[in-house]
Amino acid sequence: MKIIKSAEKWKSLEAGGFLKNRTIGFVPTMGALHEGHLSLVRRSKKENAVTVVSIFVNPAQFNDKNDLKNYPRPLQEDIKMLEAEKTDFLFLPDSGRMYADGYAYRVTEQDISKTLCGAYRPGHFDGVLTAVMKLLNIIGADRAYFGEKDYQQYLLIKGMAEAFFMNTKIIPCPIVREADGLAMSSRNRLLEPGERKRAPLFPALLARRLPPERIKKELSAGGLRPEYVKERWGRRFGAVKLGKVRLIDNVPAPPFKKSLSADAVWRRRLGGI
Ligand code: PAF
Repeated sequence: MKIIKSAEKWKSLEAGGFLKNRTIGFVPTMGALHEGHLSLVRRSKKENAVTVVSIFVNPAQFNDKNDLKNYPRPLQEDIKMLEAEKTDFLFLPDSGRMYADGYAYRVTEQDISKTLCGAYRPGHFDGVLTAVMKLLNIIGADRAYFGEKDYQQYLLIKGMAEAFFMNTKIIPCPIVREADGLAMSSRNRLLEPGERKRAPLFPALLARRLPPERIKKELSAGGLRPEYVKERWGRRFGAVKLGKVRLIDNVPAPPFKKSLSADAVWRRRLGGI
């Protein structure tokens, strides 16, 4: 696996003709990789000639300084995992270069980004969209892969790629769960052992045929601190805190109607349905 640390280096590979006539699949991450990330890498490898993974802990998307400070950064472990998957390239930019403009320029969305996680994490989705726009512009991939655990993020990135006529196709990939149902997340490794034991209550309750308010009560009774449980777009979304760790998840909304596709969500928003 070749490690590329700057946009200029990547562009010089392009200019050198190495990537000519090869489809590029891209998996943007913030590192602390797990099976969920690896499922995206495997999908990309199946569908493209070249797979690029980025690891960039994007400061602009952290609304809480301690969350940024404590975010896990096991780079050597990550590199080994990516090498085992025969990833072609790891893009490892630094934040000074990524935000040479001091974050003066940013991408803002005015609708979907204000609900669910956006209501609790001011500025978070501006940070995500800005970083993803920069990464997509640098890598110039044919396809980019995003996990549906961050479903709201996926919808927003897909909407951005379409709104700005970007060339990369945004591809959603199913949530990967631990054997006990907990959605895989880089933040799971920050849970204390007692918190980790209680965490599977979150996906289990989200999937129950109970009204969202009742689920929140049951989560509190189980020692989790719910932020929200809400239904949108045929899915049920939740966020909880366990100790210092914030977890999010989503499931098809009971009684398990079919969820809307991302295209249908955007058509509705634009008044097309
Ligand atoms: O989901 C993530 O890991 C991040 O939000 C992303 C998409 C890499 C942007 O920084």
